[in-house]
Amino acid sequence: MKAMASAPAKTILFGEHSVVYGEPAIAGAVNKRAVVKIRPSKSDKSILKSYDLNFEAELDTENKKYVLKKGKPGIIRYILEALSKVHNHSPIEILLSSNIPIGSGLGSSAAVTVATLAALYRYHNIRFNKKSLAHDAHMVEEAVQGIASPLDTLVSTYGGLVYLSRNKKVEHFKVNFNAPFVVGYTNKHGNTGKMVKDVRLLKNRNPKVINNVISSMGQLTNYAKQAILKRDFDKIGELMNINQGFLDVLGVNTFELSRMVYRARECGAIGSKITGAGGGGSIIALCPNNIDQVAEGISKEDNVLKIRFTRKGVSSRV
Ligand code: PMV
Repeated sequence: MKAMASAPAKTILFGEHSVVYGEPAIAGAVNKRAVVKIRPSKSDKSILKSYDLNFEAELDTENKKYVLKKGKPGIIRYILEALSKVHNHSPIEILLSSNIPIGSGLGSSAAVTVATLAALYRYHNIRFNKKSLAHDAHMVEEAVQGIASPLDTLVSTYGGLVYLSRNKKVEHFKVNFNAPFVVGYTNKHGNTGKMVKDVRLLKNRNPKVINNVISSMGQLTNYAKQAILKRDFDKIGELMNINQGFLDVLGVNTFELSRMVYRARECGAIGSKITGAGGGGSIIALCPNNIDQVAEGISKEDNVLKIRFTRKGVSSRV
């Protein structure tokens, strides 16, 4: 028996941080994917290999341990946790390929988790649906990270552009929103847990000011929803720029993120902002007319990726 599954990366367009306080958010699956293939091992050991990420490890699935043979994979703990939930410890070979940069705020761990679980379910012929898969993947992320928003695993499972409402209801945008974006990221990884905590402390020290900012961010996300439905790119860009100002107020901006945000605008992006928790990680820039100039501008000092939103969520087969 062989099984394979793939799942997309995600990016948050509006509502990071304010979503923690119950405000709405807009996030979408993007056209970068993690692919997991599983087959019986040729030896009596379980092996995890990735040529793309340049690592190889021998897995002890019973004790959630591993011995590295090559490289330094951060996402291995997610794979071991997924295995512990589904796998019966028979020796298998897992091959992971991914074009999602790790630790860049694009949800690489969620994509790897969703793809691993889906491939394992297929391999063991266990019935699943997207709802159960998104739930199980969120449990894996929470077990590994301690705290995790369900947004990443949800988007990675269902695909598409998603509006998460105040009462946590998920609405899929029906419009075909395939505008080109550039993601810029530095080698400094953001720490989501720390950034969320720092925002809370800032809010506790300045409740009136920060509460107003957070509710304005929610209002802005609702305006953005309308602009997306109308495919009004200029409005979306303007709202991204305002959102960036709010994120700066919350203290999650850095010199490097700011540099990329302004470089993108200078090169013709109609909107650019931090995506994800900030404090490192990535920015996203909307550039319907000049994606190449924006990508080239950012790449002088930082890493870039051209992305589009995609409707394709998890996909799996035996
Ligand atoms: O950096 P990411 O992609 O993990 O996004 C974090 C988004 C926050 O709103 C800051 C936290 C959360 O759990 O929603």
